[in-house]
Amino acid sequence: MTSYTLRSASPAKTRCDAVVVGVVQGAKGPELDGAAGDVASAYGRKLRPLMSGLGVTGKSGEVVKVPTAGAIPSPLLVLVGLGRNQDATAVRRAAGVAARAVTNAASVAVALPADSAELVRAVTEGWELGGYAFTAYKKDEKKDGPGEVVVLSAAARRKEVITAFEESRVVTRAVAATRDWVNTPPGDLTPPKFADAVVAATKEVTRGRGAPKIGIRVLDEEELAELGCGGILGVGMGSSAAPRLVELTYAPKGARHHLALVGKGITFDSGGLTIKPAASMNDMKSDMAGAAAIVQATYAIATLGLPVRISAFAPMAENMVSGSSMRPGDVLTMYGGTTVEVLNTDAEGRLILADALMRATEQQPDVILDVATLTGHMVVALGDRISGVMGSDDVVADVLVAAATAGEEMWPMPIPEAMSERITSSKVADLSQHDWIRWGGGLFAAAFLREFTAGLPWAHLDIAGPSFNSGSAWGHQTPGGTGVAVATLVDFARALATRP
Ligand code: BES
Ligand code: MN
Ligand code: ZN
Repeated sequence: MTSYTLRSASPAKTRCDAVVVGVVQGAKGPELDGAAGDVASAYGRKLRPLMSGLGVTGKSGEVVKVPTAGAIPSPLLVLVGLGRNQDATAVRRAAGVAARAVTNAASVAVALPADSAELVRAVTEGWELGGYAFTAYKKDEKKDGPGEVVVLSAAARRKEVITAFEESRVVTRAVAATRDWVNTPPGDLTPPKFADAVVAATKEVTRGRGAPKIGIRVLDEEELAELGCGGILGVGMGSSAAPRLVELTYAPKGARHHLALVGKGITFDSGGLTIKPAASMNDMKSDMAGAAAIVQATYAIATLGLPVRISAFAPMAENMVSGSSMRPGDVLTMYGGTTVEVLNTDAEGRLILADALMRATEQQPDVILDVATLTGHMVVALGDRISGVMGSDDVVADVLVAAATAGEEMWPMPIPEAMSERITSSKVADLSQHDWIRWGGGLFAAAFLREFTAGLPWAHLDIAGPSFNSGSAWGHQTPGGTGVAVATLVDFARALATRP
């Protein structure tokens, strides 16, 4: 376990196995960032030729390790590129890059730009998430970061900086736990196993003195049938692992606002009878990233003690092919009675979300957020690093503000009027789940979900692209699950808590 401390010491006087400093792409070439302060003066005139000899440019993503040979007390200096600016995004990425570069140090001092609460948060989150590794299934590899990470900040004694530092640890824990769940092989995280994992995690989070109270209810297939959750049951029908609906509640004293969170929990998406092409199926263990994110965000919000009531809903099903799979043409009756004609079994997410959203509306929350790896269309539109946000204008705006604070890239997308016609085009049921028109498929999905929000303030976060990194590590993002949306949800709740 790595211990993290926040200190105001200067990097050239801190004795550690490694010191991390930033390099900026300045107007006159690469230079050490101001936070590196006395490291630059310790090297004096030797610094420029040294950096140029090493080919240091300061580009974002660059990292160069230099033996200090006594120039400063620490034996190793790690130069990490900040690019042209030193904003929170640049700092978060640089910290992540540095965390992966420092492999064999027992103690590290990180002297990146950190003179505000926002930047301290970026350093700690970037470092911890960039150094994340999923090694549960590796025979010989183990996670072992440095024993001690010292975050250096000139503002280390300011109250809001200390708070940001401590709170960022809670958020990174939730993001890392989300990544763990997303990375877990789908055979080991079927709906019943995922529900069990949530039960176990909830116990852990609520254990001990000062821990928050979180209520949990797991609905199994029989209870779902009694309730009439036809969407979750329909999607889950083809799998030998039965579906579940996990509901969490956090109701702190003094909460003036009530936030409902809903997350898509497809533990594996084969597409069902409308089967996916082989290559599109490879990463479909990640189709529960929304459920993982809302559950972990609930833990973080509760652990931080934010005075916001949370009702969280995680519908879980495995979308499989078998003799009992739902068929194109089947009509499902959702929780609450709305009927839906299924025309593409691969558009399964909206079906399980429909039941869960309706369950959420019954609690009369002030606002509903759903998080889902919903459509490839959103990935085509925004790329794989930006989530699409749709829904009530004011809620969408609030989500975008929270995302900016959290350092997550999100972008608004519309729900055009024309979608209303498309979702009601079924000749046999109240709603069509799909219409085989490719254009605007991500917006169609949002229009469909809106039908199950009872007109309450709501936003839908389509995280299909950013939830899973199928390439190599960059910045604070490692391969596999990213834990996207967790930090945004926490900041959304934080903002909600401060409202009258
Ligand atoms: N889980 C997928 C969406 C997805 C695609 C997530 C790529 C992550 C990466 C979803 O269930 C799906 O299959 N969506 C269909 C919707 C279509 C049938 C309307 C899609 O994107 O093709
Ligand atoms: Mn699908
Ligand atoms: Zn899916």
